[in-house]
Amino acid sequence: MNDAADICIIGAGSSGMTVAKALKEKGLRAEIFEKGSDIGGMWRYQNDTGQGSCYASLHIDTSRPNLGYSDFPLDPSLPDFPSHAQFLSHLERYADRFGLRDLVRFRTEVASVTPKGERYEVALSSGEVRDYGHVIVANGHLSDPRMPEFAGTFDGDQIHSHHYRTADPYAGKRVMVVGLGNSAVDIAVDIARRAEHVIVSTRRSAWVMPKYLMGVPIDQVSGMIARRFRLSTKATRRVMSWLIRLGVGDQRRLGLPRPEHPMWREHATLSQELLPYIGHGYISVKPNVQALRGDRVAFVDGSEEPLDAIIYATGYKTTFPFLPAEVFDPEAEAGRLYRRMISLKHPGLIFAGLVQPVGPTIPLVEIQGQWIAGVLAGDVALPDTNGRTAEVEAHQALQHATYLDSKRYVLEVDYRTYAEQMRKDMRAGSAGLR
Ligand SMILES: Cc1cc2nc3c(=O)[nH]c(=O)nc-3n(C[C@H](O)[C@H](O)[C@H](O)COP(=O)(O)OP(=O)(O)OC[C@H]3O[C@@H](n4cnc5c(N)ncnc54)[C@H](O)[C@@H]3O)c2cc1C
Ligand SMILES: NC(=O)c1ccc[n+]([C@@H]2O[C@H](COP(=O)([O-])OP(=O)(O)OC[C@H]3O[C@@H](n4cnc5c(N)ncnc54)[C@H](OP(=O)(O)O)[C@@H]3O)[C@@H](O)[C@H]2O)c1
Repeated sequence: MNDAADICIIGAGSSGMTVAKALKEKGLRAEIFEKGSDIGGMWRYQNDTGQGSCYASLHIDTSRPNLGYSDFPLDPSLPDFPSHAQFLSHLERYADRFGLRDLVRFRTEVASVTPKGERYEVALSSGEVRDYGHVIVANGHLSDPRMPEFAGTFDGDQIHSHHYRTADPYAGKRVMVVGLGNSAVDIAVDIARRAEHVIVSTRRSAWVMPKYLMGVPIDQVSGMIARRFRLSTKATRRVMSWLIRLGVGDQRRLGLPRPEHPMWREHATLSQELLPYIGHGYISVKPNVQALRGDRVAFVDGSEEPLDAIIYATGYKTTFPFLPAEVFDPEAEAGRLYRRMISLKHPGLIFAGLVQPVGPTIPLVEIQGQWIAGVLAGDVALPDTNGRTAEVEAHQALQHATYLDSKRYVLEVDYRTYAEQMRKDMRAGSAGLR
């Protein structure tokens, strides 16, 4: 550990690691506190952090070439969509290659962060209290289950997808998966061949995109089209919508309702298997739950189904147990960070990875790390408080116009636009108002 460090990083997942590397490269001294006993955060299956959302069958949904760090690509011998274990081993090599493990104090939880003037008092689980000029929060925002509140009670097993690990407990059972995000489709497909039957309940439906189009990973198809024809994001999406409809056909044929919203107003749900599995009768689709009725569930269309188990794949709440609400209230402030990173009230409180991109999170946080390092090294000047607030207002207005009005979209950003914004700031040496 580095006693002279003036920057504290909370969390040694992919976000904390890449930010630490960027700071190190600028000669800035940081120390990382990690409550678990190793690096990797959610990519370490059955991590002893107690907050991992990784299941045994989890594969990355971004294809390999688009997932690597700028100076540390994934090994080309890996498959198009690496498994969690393969990605973890990539992160471990990254940490070793850039000497990041020595910066981490493991089995040390940050219990609280308290601003003291322009500095921050950080209390650790050991009882020790330390003082820093900046605190970078990289604790991961996908581990505190958001549960729906359905009327009635259910007698069978119920868990949130956060606690799902394997299909074993569901063999021969009638299982309902609630939600139609990426956790829901992954888990429904994982269970489908073992369970007696799987029901997916969705209140809004979603456009289910395949992982491959014409044998090529879909993110690569989109990238190729944008580059080859020099298309804007909007134009690229128009072409992609057309290609997806051509490749997938009308999902209504399989009983998956057509969403009322346009394709790009939601967070993409990707699955190569869901639609064919519906077609094979392993999975059927129901609308929202109306009430839980003991060993049955009633749906808003008036139908009822007997069930043995429910898995709520209903997403996550953004919470920071170590930040009192008067310091940072996630409900009000998580969507109001300057450049999606800097607290308006406490500019030394910086968040890394607190985004949900259309595109991959992992390499996007590398750019956030470079941006943060640029700011802390004095290479990138920030606008004043009014300027930062104006940027946040402009971002929120654009976001409301772009995505669905739901808590799920508070952290949504477009990878390409946001990455370019941060790169532009770094090139200019000053961060912008838009
Ligand atoms: C099921 C699932 C699949 C995903 N798949 C993809 C994907 O394919 N591609 C993609 O780009 N993104 C994916 N994501 C998003 C993913 O969460 C991010 O990409 C990223 O890896 C998260 O890294 P992180 O470091 O921000 O958080 P985490 O991996 O959660 O790491 C946070 C770390 O902080 C530590 N910590 C938390 N609180 C404290 C504390 N108080 N004190 C000390 N340490 C603390 C934790 O122990 C943990 O090690 C997925 C998310 C989920 C849930
Ligand atoms: N393989 C992968 O790479 C992979 C796998 C899993 C997750 N992830 C990522 O991890 C993040 C979290 O994904 P997630 O799927 O766990 O959560 P999510 O994206 O937030 O999806 C939650 C789903 O639950 C539904 N829902 C929420 N509240 C509900 C309620 N009260 N009643 C009924 N339905 C409700 C949502 O519907 P609405 O749309 O109507 O709100 C949505 O379909 C995402 O960024 C995702 O891409 C990636």
